Amino acid sequence: MDNIAGSPVEGENFYGREKVVSHLREILANDDILLLGPRRIGKTSTARAVMAAVRNEGWRAIEINVAACRNERDFLDKLESKLAPELATFSEKAKSAIGDAFGKVSGRIKSVKIAGAVSVELGNGEVEDWTKVASDVLHLIVQADERWLIYVDELPIMLFNFIRDDPQYGVQRVRRFLDWFRNDVRALPDVRKVRWLVSGSVGLDTLVQEHGMADTINSMRHQGLAAYSDEVAVAMLGELATSYQIKLSNEDTRHIVAAVQWPQPYYLQMAFHHLRALMSEHPDDSPASLIEQAIDIMVQPGADNEFHHWEMRLTIQLCKADANHALAMLNLAAQVPAGARAENLLDIVQERMSCVTPDEAKRTFIRLRDILLRDAYWWAEETSGVKRYRFRLEPLRRWWLRRDTL
Ligand SMILES: Nc1ncnc2c1ncn2[C@@H]1O[C@H](COP(=O)(O)OP(=O)(O)OP(=O)(O)O)[C@@H](O)[C@H]1O
Ligand SMILES: [Mg+2]
Repeated sequence: MDNIAGSPVEGENFYGREKVVSHLREILANDDILLLGPRRIGKTSTARAVMAAVRNEGWRAIEINVAACRNERDFLDKLESKLAPELATFSEKAKSAIGDAFGKVSGRIKSVKIAGAVSVELGNGEVEDWTKVASDVLHLIVQADERWLIYVDELPIMLFNFIRDDPQYGVQRVRRFLDWFRNDVRALPDVRKVRWLVSGSVGLDTLVQEHGMADTINSMRHQGLAAYSDEVAVAMLGELATSYQIKLSNEDTRHIVAAVQWPQPYYLQMAFHHLRALMSEHPDDSPASLIEQAIDIMVQPGADNEFHHWEMRLTIQLCKADANHALAMLNLAAQVPAGARAENLLDIVQERMSCVTPDEAKRTFIRLRDILLRDAYWWAEETSGVKRYRFRLEPLRRWWLRRDTL
């Protein structure tokens, strides 16, 4: 097994989530999936494993990453650019049935301009709704006797692009996009032949809640990626140690898992990577004496790119005031591994919102607390009647503390 910490993993390197993949595969029999989670949690790797699984059963599967799409036409372009090569591999009969028609639709995509809020303009000056072109594309591909999986990665980033670039109509366009997805796509004949797996790392759920359009994504089955159990995490580290011929005792691997606290594969890979480097620099030291150091290296400038995202996603998905309240709450919770008491966190929000009633401030606290719970920043621990919110990921806590320290 390779020690990969960054790019999506496939094949032999995809470790310990086989059951997750078959569960997602089962859901796709009847439903579309919305797979949300923080960065680096393994969404793309898992989605690709699902694509491989359905391809084994004869489905067609394409992946589009829409993070760089700034408007609806970019989205259609992306879709077309992945569908066209797939259609080229069809049998001659199927190709002659839909190939020409597809060529025409893709010509329409190429010539559309985004004009105003929801319309697209054809080259000849005619204006048609982009959803019409999009539905025509789907309508064509279901005419072939094939099943499809369309994996759309980073959809929330694209929708946030709409809102940022178009203050006047952005939110309306997001709603239209999601409505198209929920209503128009489902109304197409034979639509059951196309399944969607949509994923992203910036809270689509927050976006739709904040703008009162949660209904638009309810038709998809919401899924996340839980951390490994301690047993799987220990076994994965054992596997890595064997591959790199490094001696790690069972106690050492347990120690690493305990130091990371939230055993998501990426952080285990990172910890192993730094430990491996330290062990070759200090061959006479025991692994146990180097583990804490390896975790500390993860959060130092230069090695800490992945943690910035946890801060950034708050400012992307929340308004400025809320993002600042959330940052303040997290600063307090980061002080010690055991986290902060609920009432101390509430005090902070009430102090910061001195112009509103304590009840209003409390509602803000609860709303933000729930977002931070759902997005895996912290979890609630209740021992002997005292409720504390503490970071899930210990390296993130250390990073957070460092960024808040002079
Ligand atoms: N099943 C797995 N087995 C081993 N390592 C994994 C697995 N899944 C994820 N990883 C680790 O996590 C890293 C990131 O995986 P991946 O790119 O799939 O996550 P992601 O959630 O799509 O990330 P991003 O939000 O940045 O797109 C990989 O480089 C690898 O270190
Ligand atoms: Mg990804």
